[in-house]
Amino acid sequence: MKLDDTQLRHLTELDYTSSFALVALTGDGEGVSVVRYAALPEHPGWAEVAFTVKRGWRRAAIATMLYRIVETRARDCGLCGFVAFHLAENEAAAGLLDRLAFDVVGTAGGIVETRKRLGDARCALTPRRP
Ligand SMILES: CC(C)(COP(=O)(O)OP(=O)(O)OC[C@H]1O[C@@H](n2cnc3c(N)ncnc32)[C@H](O)[C@@H]1OP(=O)(O)O)[C@@H](O)C(=O)NCCC(=O)NCCS
Repeated sequence: MKLDDTQLRHLTELDYTSSFALVALTGDGEGVSVVRYAALPEHPGWAEVAFTVKRGWRRAAIATMLYRIVETRARDCGLCGFVAFHLAENEAAAGLLDRLAFDVVGTAGGIVETRKRLGDARCALTPRRP
């Protein structure tokens, strides 16, 4: 898949506060996982988090381990919370997000929206994808 300039910038230009990514590499430098978040400008304080683990490396708690660090970073940066989206039939994502204490907010067009509050109750926003 070829990325255009905008996509490439979005994925690689991180400020470590409103956008952050953690990558897992093997000893040989092969990338096997990335967990990242990016702030949702239309919902101040909230960020979308996404997970990917390469086939052959799944179900080894890699996503869970990276997420714990990413969540700590988000808390340290004062983020209110995360939203995460997955296809309704994606049992792995649903299982992972349930295990990580995300709540299902709703489903639209086969996409499930989940949310986890990190900040205090003043962060009362309930982001929903239009
Ligand atoms: C979803 C994904 C990131 C999970 O990564 P992972 O490293 O395998 O997840 P973990 O090993 O940390 O799993 C943690 C928990 O999630 C749940 N889980 C993970 N994979 C699962 C599966 N295939 N079926 C059901 N539950 C699953 C389990 O509760 C698991 O705990 P357990 O192994 O002790 O039972 C990985 O399957 C993936 O990259 N899928 C393709 C991309 C994707 O769907 N991303 C999510 C969109 S936000």
